[in-house]
Amino acid sequence: MTPSATTGLPVSHEQLRARFPSLSQEVNGHRAVFLDGPGGTQTPRSVIDAMAAYLGRDNANLGGAFATSVRTVETVAAARREMAEFLGAVRPEEIVFGQNMTSLTFTLSHALRRTWRAGDEIVVTSLDHDANVAPWTLASEDAGATVRTWEFRREDCTLRLEDLEPLLNERTRLVAFTHGSNIVGSIPDATGAVRMVRAKSPYALVFIDAVHYTPHNAVDVEAIDCDFLGCSAYKFCGPHLGVLYGKYQHLEDLQNYKVRASTNVPPGKWETGTQSFESIAGLRACLAYYRELGEGNLHQAMERIKDYEASLSGRFLEQISDGVPGLHLHGLRQVGDVNRRTPTFAITLESHTPREVAEQLGRQGIFVGDGHYYAIGVVDRIGLADKGGVVRLGFAHYTTPDEVDLVVEALRKLANA
Ligand SMILES: Cc1ncc(COP(=O)(O)O)c(C=O)c1O
Repeated sequence: MTPSATTGLPVSHEQLRARFPSLSQEVNGHRAVFLDGPGGTQTPRSVIDAMAAYLGRDNANLGGAFATSVRTVETVAAARREMAEFLGAVRPEEIVFGQNMTSLTFTLSHALRRTWRAGDEIVVTSLDHDANVAPWTLASEDAGATVRTWEFRREDCTLRLEDLEPLLNERTRLVAFTHGSNIVGSIPDATGAVRMVRAKSPYALVFIDAVHYTPHNAVDVEAIDCDFLGCSAYKFCGPHLGVLYGKYQHLEDLQNYKVRASTNVPPGKWETGTQSFESIAGLRACLAYYRELGEGNLHQAMERIKDYEASLSGRFLEQISDGVPGLHLHGLRQVGDVNRRTPTFAITLESHTPREVAEQLGRQGIFVGDGHYYAIGVVDRIGLADKGGVVRLGFAHYTTPDEVDLVVEALRKLANA
């Protein structure tokens, strides 16, 4: 199929957007503009249908000698294979499902802290969502380990490898960093960071938070060579479901908290309690949707989405550089930076608080966030913690160029009001 000239995907905007029932709704007579993707993306009809079909036909627990249970086991196994392919993992057993990324990360932190001793060191960043900070700092407290912080640069909100290097040594046991910031959008050099950790800290494991990165770029855990990676399906057009990747050997070796009757073998030993099987069924449909966009290839779908979204970022950056009075963009600002960032922008207006901006835009049907988005290290470090944080505009692959123009125009009007 020839890719559409406007989206680079094998479908036009209209065809793509028609797949998402929520996108056609109106607010106060305005067509809704969903720029809240970093908080949670919209969902294609096929995902909604797959969840309903699971509950309407296959609903059962695992391990039964009857048809619905057998189908449930098959659904989970297929979802694991497909998710492994999506993340570039070699073995389906390296994929663990759970409630959400935060809960899975706490579970892992409980297991890792059992291997840490007083004097060990862990590294977290100031750019991260707290779901990739608090699990590690709390576990460090329990183990008597020392926490070091890889600080982002204030001038452009990026993490630099030269700032990581001095934090690494033989005592480092874990380095946890983001694949992409959920507030300012900057993308660190994950592969370079892992390489540096391997060279300087032979006993360190690397955990990457890919929750914000996954909807915007292809993930390849083998190429990055991280030990663990977390993501969340509701950020990439799927249902509310967390996914943890771990190298098989680690998932096998680590001792996690679990009930006695559960298996000792990964991934089952990590999947405590009954899973949301309807969400796992929905995840399959979500990955099938991407496969269609990539014409059979999940990686290609994400590459196409990355390119399309980069064009939206460029359009936005060009327009605001023309000058919206009193608008500040926090983070990478240059059109040439679009491949170093996701299409997620943190802005403030001098004339209005972030909440006021979100309310004003919300009345016009433009959905944007306001606040800290749990990236509390970021709003602290840029000095906006007590000023209501920032307004967050998050474009997704279903965002149209017109919607980018619309939000810029709405901001311009507000700034001039
Ligand atoms: C970058 C990032 N990490 C982690 C999380 C937490 O994910 P979950 O809601 O699945 O626990 C979020 C959620 O907003 C996020 O944006």
